[in-house]
Amino acid sequence: MKQKIQDLLLEIENFNAKSLDEVEKFRIKFLGSKGIIKDLFNDFKSVDVSLKKEIGQALNQLRKEATEKVNALKEALEDQKQEEKKYGDLTRPAEPLDLGSRHPISIVKNQILEIFSRIGFTVSEGPEIEDDWHNFTALNLPEYHPARDMQDTFFIETDPDILLRTHTSSVQVRYMENHKPPIRTVSPGRVFRNEDISARAHCIFHQVEGLYIDTDVSFADLKQTLLYFTKEMFGKSKIRLRPSYFPFTEPSAEVDIYWGLETETDYKITKGTGWLEIMGCGMVDPNVLKNANIDAEKYSGFAFGMGIERIAMLLYQIPDIRMFYENDVRFLDQFKSVI
Ligand code: PHE
Repeated sequence: MKQKIQDLLLEIENFNAKSLDEVEKFRIKFLGSKGIIKDLFNDFKSVDVSLKKEIGQALNQLRKEATEKVNALKEALEDQKQEEKKYGDLTRPAEPLDLGSRHPISIVKNQILEIFSRIGFTVSEGPEIEDDWHNFTALNLPEYHPARDMQDTFFIETDPDILLRTHTSSVQVRYMENHKPPIRTVSPGRVFRNEDISARAHCIFHQVEGLYIDTDVSFADLKQTLLYFTKEMFGKSKIRLRPSYFPFTEPSAEVDIYWGLETETDYKITKGTGWLEIMGCGMVDPNVLKNANIDAEKYSGFAFGMGIERIAMLLYQIPDIRMFYENDVRFLDQFKSVI
């Protein structure tokens, strides 16, 4: 009997359970009313008197060990259950991470800046609330100049000197005031015009304007730079420059790229001509250089400016400019895969 008790003690010590069910089975086996220990106590009655003390103690020890084991296992398993309630199943796969996406305006803006950075243009930025000098006067648009009406302006309160910039050419003026030639800079930013909102136009949009000033800069340099840009940006290598007018450049031109007429969409967006206007440009008017204290005898330069929305609409075939500002996630989600 002594041996049997020893064996059972060992069995109890080694027992482990994964569920409360298993603990309960163990309890019934050892401590139940028809369990092993009960049987042993029954057998104990017939144990020789000389052994009674020793075996009695061993039996009590066995019952104690079994009870403690049951209690300990129960406690541990109940704790675990609580934890599971708190954290759920810790072995399940993680929730998929919902990655955000870049706004198409940012994607296109970064592309444009990256293309110009490869040929030495740095990025410059300036304030959205401007004064008359930087937005108009310094750009060869004195007060009462009729060309001011080309860009309907939002003024701040009643002060006619403070306004929301109508183009980022204002940044170029600031840049010229603070840097000596050679200058190579692109100025991205938000601009504001008091225009009726439609599928093609908005009162807020984004531009990237470029400025290049050095000795001996010619119209040919401008054309090569634009050709490089259109090749990199659109993969198209045919452009044409149509004479145009901007107060700050002379001569001035509109840049068209040959988009082609391969698909029905091509016909639609180019109105059947194959050509698409994408930006304005020209040789910086000497008056503008003088206004920024740059020696117009020594230096010349070119400038260009384009609307980011227009280009993004082209590249992604977005039919309505208002989609950029509504921030409908169903629209924005579609740009997920683009870096
Ligand atoms: N500032 C002009 C605009 O907003 C664009 C432009 C920039 C044209 C530079 C010529 C030269 O429309």
